[in-house]
Amino acid sequence: MNLLIMGLPGAGKGTQADFIVEKYGIPHISTGDIFRAAIKQQTPLGVKAQGYIDQGELVPDDVTCGIVEERLQQPDTKAGYLLDGFPRTIVQAEQLEKMTQKLNKPLDAVLNVDVDPETLVERLSGRFICKNCGATYHKLYKKTRVEGTCDVCGGHAFYQRSDDKPETVKNRLEVNLKMNTPLIDFYSQRNLLHTVNGNQPIADVTQEINQVLSDLH
Ligand code: AP5
Ligand code: ZN
Repeated sequence: MNLLIMGLPGAGKGTQADFIVEKYGIPHISTGDIFRAAIKQQTPLGVKAQGYIDQGELVPDDVTCGIVEERLQQPDTKAGYLLDGFPRTIVQAEQLEKMTQKLNKPLDAVLNVDVDPETLVERLSGRFICKNCGATYHKLYKKTRVEGTCDVCGGHAFYQRSDDKPETVKNRLEVNLKMNTPLIDFYSQRNLLHTVNGNQPIADVTQEINQVLSDLH
């Protein structure tokens, strides 16, 4: 299954992606994760991307498209893939359409996680991440089972993403709000769009997504 999950920053794309990739055994391709790994290692890509991400701006289309095209050619995408956070502009969407046609891996569906913009600041400011395994939690909505201990790996150290500080969050939301409607139109014109209500508790959003995906078969 070839899927895309889209939504504003903090909508819950990464959270829902974890369930989808586990259920369908497909790789999770998150451009945000790819950039953060590159920044951590200070590769040439990371050095280039860091300035944009720290400002809450988008990394230029040519850089981002190149990475995805390369990633979609890896053998683990044979059974499908889940794109998360790409495309984010119409140029990227057009490029993706071209590359997936060329690779014979066209999208089967686009999941649009729709959340009221007012709740996103709270989602992002309460997010914390396990330093060891990258599992994502929220101080109100997704706590660890034992306080201070990661449910997944048992680690005890957590961090906040540097772009989750209030000044950056404001710009991220503005930048992404501008791009969101044209992208929704792009995929609804192609009859690929499935909008799910992301304002519900995490498990209810998962259930709605599962319903959409099982109806695709
Ligand atoms: P990226 O990493 O993609 O960030 P984003 O789109 O801003 O999205 P997030 O990862 O912040 O949020 P999410 O929707 O995954 O939410 P999550 O599940 O964690 O991109 C980062 C940056 O990289 C961009 O700003 C840009 O600079 C650059 N970039 C990336 N892709 C690019 C591209 N294609 N082109 C150009 N530049 C690009 O959930 C958030 C929190 O809420 C968590 O704490 C979670 O526990 C909680 N939560 C989740 N669901 C619920 C729920 N239903 N109820 C309550 N709490 C919930
Ligand atoms: Zn962990």
